[in-house]
Amino acid sequence: MASQKIALITGVTGQDGALLAALLLGKGYEVHGLVRWDCVDSTQRLKVLKFQNAPFHLHYGDMTDAHNLTGLFKTIQPDEIYNLAALSHVKVSFETPGSALQTNAVGTLNLLEAVRVLELEDRVKVYQASSSEMFGSTPAPQNEESSFQPCSPYGVSKLAAYWMARTYRDSYGIFISNGILFNHESPARGEDFVTRKIAMAVAAIEAGKQERLELGNLDSLRDWGHARDYVEGMWMMLQQDRPGDYVLATGEARSVREFTEAAFAQIGVQLEWRGQGAEETGRDSKTGKVLVSVDAALFRPLEVNHLCGDASKARRELGWQPRINFAALVAEMVNAERQVYWQERASWPKAG
Ligand code: GDD
Repeated sequence: MASQKIALITGVTGQDGALLAALLLGKGYEVHGLVRWDCVDSTQRLKVLKFQNAPFHLHYGDMTDAHNLTGLFKTIQPDEIYNLAALSHVKVSFETPGSALQTNAVGTLNLLEAVRVLELEDRVKVYQASSSEMFGSTPAPQNEESSFQPCSPYGVSKLAAYWMARTYRDSYGIFISNGILFNHESPARGEDFVTRKIAMAVAAIEAGKQERLELGNLDSLRDWGHARDYVEGMWMMLQQDRPGDYVLATGEARSVREFTEAAFAQIGVQLEWRGQGAEETGRDSKTGKVLVSVDAALFRPLEVNHLCGDASKARRELGWQPRINFAALVAEMVNAERQVYWQERASWPKAG
């Protein structure tokens, strides 16, 4: 019988980390997750895993501490490392560019150096979470051959990590694959990302708990897939005989405006748009009530206008393809938020 594989996930408390941990536990792995000491409160997403008495272990970790990573790798001796830890919010990276560079770029270097110094290259496979933000202003559709023109400190930091990963692969023969992932969402998405923010607001507006939703750029186009499909793609990359770089995407782009319309449609509201730029509003077509407005403070100093990926290489070489489409994704996200209010209502004391 094959021995149990050991996986180590950095950034395990994030959306992808939690979903990947669940996937790997389901496949019989022993899973070790790294969490920064000041993020232990954000282990909400992992509660489900701990309750299952699964072979799941949390460790204090910090990407900017090379000693910490080296020590952990030496003790855990992982077969697969998934490097998902990052300062992942693009707008925040304009405000804390130094942290973005430290965590995302230098942090990845620390991880790769730990693998090299411990001479783990014969046993370990590494997944590096690269991002479609690296393409920046390169025209869509983008694939592995497209040029990189990042438009944010986040994009630049991810590009540095991507090249460092390739350099370590070519120089030291480490198995390391870059997954160049386009936007991927789920009900476990962080609340500061636009899809979750919209889903939460739609449910709150329906429940009478919120008046309106304020958004930034309504016209940027994103290729939105479901995170469950994407974590499976990460795993598939490490099951190959040879490392490589792969785009994961649906090949369909929609605007923030379209996502908002689809989300409101879930609660039976059709939006009607009026005005332009920062003056634009989205109204309930029946009542005329303003439900969406634009807040210029949410605009980014530089915007990536159009991301739409071509994942034909992943389809061809990994056999990967997304299974959950845009409509199902929006419905799942909005209905997950509505349940919060349904449960609240069910627990209200009955009159009389
Ligand atoms: N977050 C946010 N909040 N974005 C808004 C808002 C708002 O209120 N209003 C409009 N947007 C627009 C942003 O300007 C951007 O064009 C788009 O919505 C998506 O923003 P995010 O959901 O924050 O994601 P992102 O595309 O910037 O980055 C995500 O995807 C990348 C892959 O392409 C992140 O998950 C990155 O970590 C990831 O690498």
